[in-house]
Amino acid sequence: MTRTTVNHLGDHVGETVNLEGWLSNRRSSKKLHFLLLRDGSGTVQCVVSREKFGDEAFEPLGHIPYESSLTIEGVVKADARAQGGYELEATDVRVISEAQEYPISNKDHGPDFLLSHRHLWLRSRKQVALMRIRDEVLRAIRGFMHDREFLCIDAPIFTPNACEGTSTLFEVNYFDDETAFLTQSGQLYMEAAAMAYGKAYCLGPTFRAEKSKTRRHLTEFWMWEPEMAHSDLDDVMDLAEDALRTIVEAVLTNRGEDLEVLKRDIEALERVREPFPRISYTEAVEKMHEKGHEFEWGGDFGARDEALISSLYPQPVLIHRYPQEVKAFYMKRDPQDDRLALGVDVLAPEGYGEVIGGGQREDDLDLLQGRLRAHGLSEEAFAWYLDLRRYGSVPHGGFGLGIERTVCWIAGIEHVRECIPFPRMLYRIYP
Ligand code: 4AD
Ligand code: MG
Repeated sequence: MTRTTVNHLGDHVGETVNLEGWLSNRRSSKKLHFLLLRDGSGTVQCVVSREKFGDEAFEPLGHIPYESSLTIEGVVKADARAQGGYELEATDVRVISEAQEYPISNKDHGPDFLLSHRHLWLRSRKQVALMRIRDEVLRAIRGFMHDREFLCIDAPIFTPNACEGTSTLFEVNYFDDETAFLTQSGQLYMEAAAMAYGKAYCLGPTFRAEKSKTRRHLTEFWMWEPEMAHSDLDDVMDLAEDALRTIVEAVLTNRGEDLEVLKRDIEALERVREPFPRISYTEAVEKMHEKGHEFEWGGDFGARDEALISSLYPQPVLIHRYPQEVKAFYMKRDPQDDRLALGVDVLAPEGYGEVIGGGQREDDLDLLQGRLRAHGLSEEAFAWYLDLRRYGSVPHGGFGLGIERTVCWIAGIEHVRECIPFPRMLYRIYP
């Protein structure tokens, strides 16, 4: 007997196969049961006939509770009308474990109920499609990095110091009297890696004790952070643009069915093939003023400001050269204008806002020391980081891409909480 999965049924038309899955739905008539079997790779309708099974075997199959685990044996039939193009003419149905009454039904559950049942919610069709897209995004990133000869260098999660400001640090008791922090970003370690390997990246969980309750904030999220030696802001912007185009192309090519399940507007995604506009912060502020939007030069963009700017372009837009006050201590100043930092944010279209933040790093020892002092950061904690400027400093840069925000935009989802398997937020750490 061939054991297979729903997504491979096309290779077995006319054969008898064995599928293992869960009962996701059922319709019954006097003579037939239509059992919808979900196995993670897809869903297939299995037809059980009273005539073939006999009354005694047929009757109980009309009462198996939803989400019971099943093994179904049957003959694969091609059927253009069926979901996925195939159906199974069942010859045997065995219950592995009969489910209790399943808490999630087709009726509308509120987000809180669903989040509290996340361990079960993940089984639903939309969530499966979303996790497949997330997987594709991660795979595309790793492929892109490999093609460009970047080395994967994993950054630590316990860290002795802040990277992105001290207000969003999670403290952890680290033996005796020491305090450690959950990493906010692997960047500083990637700078060390770039000086060792030229081009390096990390991809892993990062943590922000962010008390913001918005649709874009998680306290634990995944970030991809490439870093390149001998590179300036333009190189960083080129890499960010190529990366986003590669990621979107991979999802369009390999996850069309999942985008369809999510009813994603494909045309909007296809516009990402065109060049991305690049504007300076100052130009962005001017554009906001032209649209009658109030904003004072010097401040950081909030969600509303980002939404306005990104609504002006169908492609992701790169905004560069922010006022240095709103950016982190490690950003290099613009040699043309000392008020500005050589940073770049990439805003996703359709109002999704920032998905990438990065730029060129300060590579001068004295300036960096001064910057640490100005930001109230201890030089002692950053001694190792300063060493990178002592021993063969070079211009370098990179960025961080938020995985969940990127998936949220590409999949057309409203809230990042659905774009990570088990979201951690201000008021949620269960399940
Ligand atoms: O802009 P951020 O804070 O940049 C850094 O951490 C740099 N050290 C990265 C680097 O240059 N290597 O964060 C980068 C990205 C943001 O653009 C956003 O996509 C995501 O990380 N991000 C969050 N995603 C979900 N929830 C949060 N609370 C996030 N904070 C940042
Ligand atoms: Mg940022």
